Amino acid sequence: MNKAKLKLDKDFVIGKVDKRVFSTFIEPIGDIVYGNIYNPEHLCADEQGFRKDVMELMQGLGSTAVRYPGGNFVSGYNWRDGIGPVDKRPVRYDKAWKRIETNQMGIDEYTDWVNKVGAEPILAVNLGTGTPEEASFEIEYTNMEGGTYFSDLRKVNGHDNPYNIKMWCLGNEMDGTWQMGEKTAKEYGRIAYEAAKQMRAVDPDIELVACGSCANDKSHPSYPEWDRVVLEECYENVDYLSLHRYYSYDPEAIKGTMFPAQFTVEDLPCIAKDMSQFIDTVCAAADYVKGLKYSDKTINICFDEWGVISSQTAKAEGLDWTERKLPEMGKRIEGMNVIDAVLFGSILITFINKCDRVKIACQSIVIPSVIGAKPDGGAFKQTTYYPFSQVAQYAEGVALRSGLQSPTKLTDGYGEQPYIQTAAVYNEESGIVTVFATNLSLRDGVVLEEVLQFDHVELFEHIQLHDEQPLAMNSLENSERVVPKIIEITDKVVLPPLSWNVLRYKVSKN
Ligand code: AHR
Repeated sequence: MNKAKLKLDKDFVIGKVDKRVFSTFIEPIGDIVYGNIYNPEHLCADEQGFRKDVMELMQGLGSTAVRYPGGNFVSGYNWRDGIGPVDKRPVRYDKAWKRIETNQMGIDEYTDWVNKVGAEPILAVNLGTGTPEEASFEIEYTNMEGGTYFSDLRKVNGHDNPYNIKMWCLGNEMDGTWQMGEKTAKEYGRIAYEAAKQMRAVDPDIELVACGSCANDKSHPSYPEWDRVVLEECYENVDYLSLHRYYSYDPEAIKGTMFPAQFTVEDLPCIAKDMSQFIDTVCAAADYVKGLKYSDKTINICFDEWGVISSQTAKAEGLDWTERKLPEMGKRIEGMNVIDAVLFGSILITFINKCDRVKIACQSIVIPSVIGAKPDGGAFKQTTYYPFSQVAQYAEGVALRSGLQSPTKLTDGYGEQPYIQTAAVYNEESGIVTVFATNLSLRDGVVLEEVLQFDHVELFEHIQLHDEQPLAMNSLENSERVVPKIIEITDKVVLPPLSWNVLRYKVSKN
């Protein structure tokens, strides 16, 4: 069996892991909000019409924050449509997703739901068809104590105390041609500057995210010039640049969609490389502007949409992947498979290793990408639920630099890439080092040798997600087809092909 070697040193710290990196994103597309989150007719609905089965799964997931309401939707959304008596709210046509928006779930309901699932809110304002002034009214509604038109309106609507929402996104993907009110970088930088100024005039303590490049692939010609130009307009007024990225590993599965066919299933080790490069390039653009402006401030990254596009058609030469279940067209409810879960792991590992610059990240779209649900049925944990919830639970502390020697795979586009990827988090208080490790090889298992520079080291837990059938997935009918297993501790740590692993060590140091 091939070997990999991981060296960790307690003194080689990348930075503290910001728990907001384990956040999620929801948007009213299909059944996501109306049907699976808000559904007064559902057997599990609570007194506000929220599904308790879905809320329980959200609580267990450990998502730190939930970004809302979009996404493409927010660029044509009027937040005022979603407040006040539900039966008086206007029904609108949502031009982004070509659907009817009933506005039954507005800011007040979203804030209640987010509280119930134990997460923080992240709200996006409309800078597509909306204005900086409207964005400032929205903050007045959510964050002002009272005594003004909008803050008193919130009280009339039954919410006496302000919500104090601290994280705000200044629009969504404003560089995308599909966006209502798309803008050039200069136009967007200017409106972001003005919105930030007006929003901060209402609440100076908010944190603001400007739209960065919404993709880094070749179909996106404004990357990374967009990031430089935007920040030249609004550097001192914002705190983060947002990045978005959806990865596919099967050209067949994305035929006819907006996603470019960049990778195949043989290229899985490329995804962390591609994402790291994306983050580094945008940070370089931000740091260039920092230099240009002689600023003391550093703009960090809010990777507020990331996802994996599942495939049941992927094939690998010489491998018998027979367990396939084609999802209903247009609905991804049926599933996320083992490959998707391992890729989730690879992406989460990338964020931990980049924790000096990536402070927030939102998994998109958590229903159904992580929680499968049907409006007229139940809810279940997708395979991807496990790496996400385990990282959200255990990545508490500082990230240690992984000195890793891994076997490599020759890939298209990125040449030789290591197929073992690791991130390590040291929690000084509990004296535990947690290593997250993926094996992205389709064929080869690997023995991992670990050298941890601590005085005493003991591996006490090894949790693993792996299946002989990488296309296997969970469903309402078989919700535990793929679940993580506890591996017996022996003198060898084995990472099977296409596996996600959590290794926990008790350590002590002088
Ligand atoms: O998540 C679906 C869409 O993907 C979002 O609305 C948009 O921001 C991105 O292009």
